[in-house]
Amino acid sequence: MTTKESILALFEEQRGVYFSGEEIAARLAVSRAAVWKAVNGLRKEGYEIDAVSNKGYRLAADTDILSTQGIEKYQDPVCRTLNLCVLPEAESTNTLLREKANAGAPEGTVILANTQTKGRGRRGRSFYSPADTGLYLSILLRPDGMTPDQAVKITTMAAVAVCEAVEEISGKETWIKWVNDIYQEGRKISGILTEASVSMENGSVESVILGIGINVYPPESGFPEDIRETAGSAFDGKQNDGKNRLAAGVLNYFFKEYERIDRTDYVEKYRAKSLVVGKEITILSPSGNRQATALDVDQDCHLIVRYENGQTERLSSGEISIRLS
Ligand code: BTN
Repeated sequence: MTTKESILALFEEQRGVYFSGEEIAARLAVSRAAVWKAVNGLRKEGYEIDAVSNKGYRLAADTDILSTQGIEKYQDPVCRTLNLCVLPEAESTNTLLREKANAGAPEGTVILANTQTKGRGRRGRSFYSPADTGLYLSILLRPDGMTPDQAVKITTMAAVAVCEAVEEISGKETWIKWVNDIYQEGRKISGILTEASVSMENGSVESVILGIGINVYPPESGFPEDIRETAGSAFDGKQNDGKNRLAAGVLNYFFKEYERIDRTDYVEKYRAKSLVVGKEITILSPSGNRQATALDVDQDCHLIVRYENGQTERLSSGEISIRLS
């Protein structure tokens, strides 16, 4: 860890506590000048650091900048072995993590970015990823002996984890539109893009990049025209350390379920949060659109639907998406 990173970890661990330059220097076994330089470095990165004579330095109480140190302090033991990397900017955290996965990165490598210049959504769409107001993260998983069809479990677990983490902080209920869109008060606040790489030899999943995008706060200049009527944010206004808390919450809830992937409790939670079960929907697929009633989500996270002619079908996500009628 650099001096700057160590100071940030100290400030994050004990928010609100002042540390004198002398004390920091002694703790980290560096010179006072090195402390001063590192504090200035943090300020340049946007951290607001209070400096009071006879007291010292501390992180301003309402600082809300995503960082490894900031996330780690909220992490449950189940996440302690994760390898987090927080970047100020990435083209797409999914694309970057795929490169790392191909180069052999282990399960539990996580990339988070403060903004994405080419954030990707499902079905080739882009994902609006402005700086400072969103959370964009990708998690590398290497599940044992999973078939591509079972990979939908990962998306399902992630959707439940996002709901739980958002609700814990915002206190507002969230809903899931099958298969992977999270809604709050009728607006989409989060989307999930799960990309698997499959072994040519045995057809099993070699690695999965689980990409999660959350609109945390309303963007300063509003959402772009094309999503203005449909997009929303998890929190109306600034939360104390909201982004670090939310990132840690998503990881904590997700890995708690992922650890026991053979159990299916999360399906119950998923069902309870479904925005579509019991509703009239339009199924959009490459072969055309069809009207149906969504009947249930089964144990494998397929959507059971009944068409107007009475025929029922079990849909897996693939190329399909749905619209509430
Ligand atoms: C969707 O709603 O269509 C899915 C959106 C997924 C967005 C996330 S943000 C982090 C990760 N990196 C990407 O480029 N996409 C995913």
